[in-house]
Amino acid sequence: MRAENILIVGGAGYIGSYVNKELNRAGYKTIVVDNLSRGDERTVVAGTFIEGDLADKEFLNRLFTEHTFDAVIHLAAFLDVGESVREPAKYYQNNVANTLNLLNAMVAHQVKNFIFSSSAAIFGNPQQDAINEDHPKAPINPYGRTKLMVEEILSDYDRSDALRSSCLRYFNAAGGDPEGEIKNHTKKQSNLIPLALEKLLTEDPTITVFGNDYDTPDGTCIRDYIHIHDLATAHRLAMENLLSGGPSTRYNLGIGRGFSVKEVLDAVEKVTGKTLNIIEGPRREGDPPRLIADATLARKELGWKPIYDDLEVIIADAWKGFN
Ligand code: WQD
Repeated sequence: MRAENILIVGGAGYIGSYVNKELNRAGYKTIVVDNLSRGDERTVVAGTFIEGDLADKEFLNRLFTEHTFDAVIHLAAFLDVGESVREPAKYYQNNVANTLNLLNAMVAHQVKNFIFSSSAAIFGNPQQDAINEDHPKAPINPYGRTKLMVEEILSDYDRSDALRSSCLRYFNAAGGDPEGEIKNHTKKQSNLIPLALEKLLTEDPTITVFGNDYDTPDGTCIRDYIHIHDLATAHRLAMENLLSGGPSTRYNLGIGRGFSVKEVLDAVEKVTGKTLNIIEGPRREGDPPRLIADATLARKELGWKPIYDDLEVIIADAWKGFN
């Protein structure tokens, strides 16, 4: 296979840096673009890094003039739900308007294959236990709305033959580089597992459980934690589908089983051998009791087979990012 040239926007981030490593391992040449607002250049362990911002149309025009890309993978978005409620303008500007800059640069330079990092947040409150691609899309926060807006833009670009796309709706991305090469340099942790692990390295390993009175076996929320290695494989398969001329696709990505907050924190203590100071706090607004994926379609159409469904292994790989 000729080494296809892939642009990874947001490739200095938690998920993007691992996608970059895996694509290089599979024989692709990559160019990683990141504005380093949340990412860190040290996580770019392969390919070529170029600092740049999707807000800068001139930069994008130069980038697409100087390079020929066979596909673009876009993982450069803000993803903190709470922050999106407090600062919606920042989320619409970055996650929607700046993405449009990227799409229009692709169209102007006839780049036709786009992989989009979407989110389970587009579904809002689940109306069934396992969420498949047909679940109603009713996001309940600005972050989820930005992701759905881009998906709808991509559907219109597909209908007009401007470009084809695969939208990958991550459930809860977790884990880390199993080889421990890529470290977790995320500037502001907000997700449960890295937050708990990072706290263990501080003087005050206190973590608050946001609600223990949910309708779940132990009263805490259940989430579908998917290892970034399995996410990276799905990105490669979805991209190869487009590169081989396949149609636009939309996939929910999770392992189809969930773990509660309490189970996660118990596993963090077991894996690290350290003790958290766990306090029970009030519910966090907007948290559904359970969010679990039905990823049958990706398994069927992409031949995708996630390999990590052991919570302790997922946490052990995340822990390698802090040591
Ligand atoms: C998980 C559970 C919290 C921190 C997030 C993003 C979403 C998507 C996936 C990108 C929840 C509880 C957390 C803490 C806690 N990202 N929790 N104490 O909210 O399920 O989804 O990641 O697509 O956009 O919002 O993940 O890790 O924030 O929370 O009790 O200090 O842990 O209430 O039940 P979430 P999370």
